[in-house]
Amino acid sequence: MGAEMQLIDLHPEPADMRRLVLEGMARQPRQLPAWLLYDAEGSRLFEEICEQPEYGLTRTEMALLEARAPELAAALGSGVLVEFGAGNARKVGPLLQALRPPAYVALDISADHLGPACQELQDRHPLVPVLGICCDYSALPQLPAHPLLSGQRRLGFYPGSSIGNFSPDEAQRLLRQLGQLLGPSSQLLIGIDQPKAVERLEAAYNDAAGISAAFARNLLVRLNRDLAGHFNPEAFAYSARWQPEHNRIAMALVSRQDQSVQLAGEIWNFAAGEPLITEYSVKYGPKEFTALAESSGWQPLGRWSDPAGDLSLHLLVTADS
Ligand SMILES: C[S@@+](CC[C@H](N)C(=O)[O-])C[C@H]1O[C@@H](n2cnc3c(N)ncnc32)[C@H](O)[C@@H]1O
Repeated sequence: MGAEMQLIDLHPEPADMRRLVLEGMARQPRQLPAWLLYDAEGSRLFEEICEQPEYGLTRTEMALLEARAPELAAALGSGVLVEFGAGNARKVGPLLQALRPPAYVALDISADHLGPACQELQDRHPLVPVLGICCDYSALPQLPAHPLLSGQRRLGFYPGSSIGNFSPDEAQRLLRQLGQLLGPSSQLLIGIDQPKAVERLEAAYNDAAGISAAFARNLLVRLNRDLAGHFNPEAFAYSARWQPEHNRIAMALVSRQDQSVQLAGEIWNFAAGEPLITEYSVKYGPKEFTALAESSGWQPLGRWSDPAGDLSLHLLVTADS
């Protein structure tokens, strides 16, 4: 008899979402938390992005995990595997196979996506109990008290280079926060997309099929639905540009004209050409990422890369160990 998948719902309340959106709309330039991109449709579109020829990150990271799973499992040792931003929870498959942890915990903000992803994983790995927690991992003070988590060393898994969605200062705070969620003597395996030619980077976030653009515009559809917004998504052009001074791709919806939009009970004016930043993707080379990790309470334990050097998996251990 296999384990039964369990779910805990700690999704931010509508009032928290409203507060975060009002704060983001007051910033200059306007910028909303990247997690708002992931409602059910956003998660579906992200999976389509991963299949685009220009977006190699998912294929590269999956191949690296498959090729190195036994080595990674040996370096990680024993403990409950906790994944941050699990998405469809497919990347963890090779690790679960090699590690056979006492439990796997998937954290993700995308409520409608998380349950089916965890169930699919539970069906494929009936001997590893799966727990899904719907939450914003960047704002969670601690993991909930749950028998699957109690008294166990925790091993973090944070693939997809999602840490690049945070500014370097925010990323430093997030790495500390992940250390707090994982606890003493924990480890963190984190996937980091490497800096590469600007044309490749810009193409990866602006695929010819227009899926990245649809993913960004879906944010406005979500705001219309969840926060009484009146955006016309087509009145905004999608842009993904490399900003060399910040080592990041900036993804934005750029107002095509002067316009006023109602959102969350207020009126917001956009000038023609004004951007609303939907997300950033900061790129770190191995040295820069190691320095960031060391300044955030982690020590480097190992690094694995694909043959082309497009992506690095860094293994970190808490500085207390
Ligand atoms: C870029 S996708 C990566 C998905 C998967 N880990 C992969 O590597 O393909 C980011 C995932 O993290 C989730 N996510 C983004 N921000 C989050 C946050 N602050 N808290 C929890 N989940 C978040 C999204 O719902 C999405 O599933």
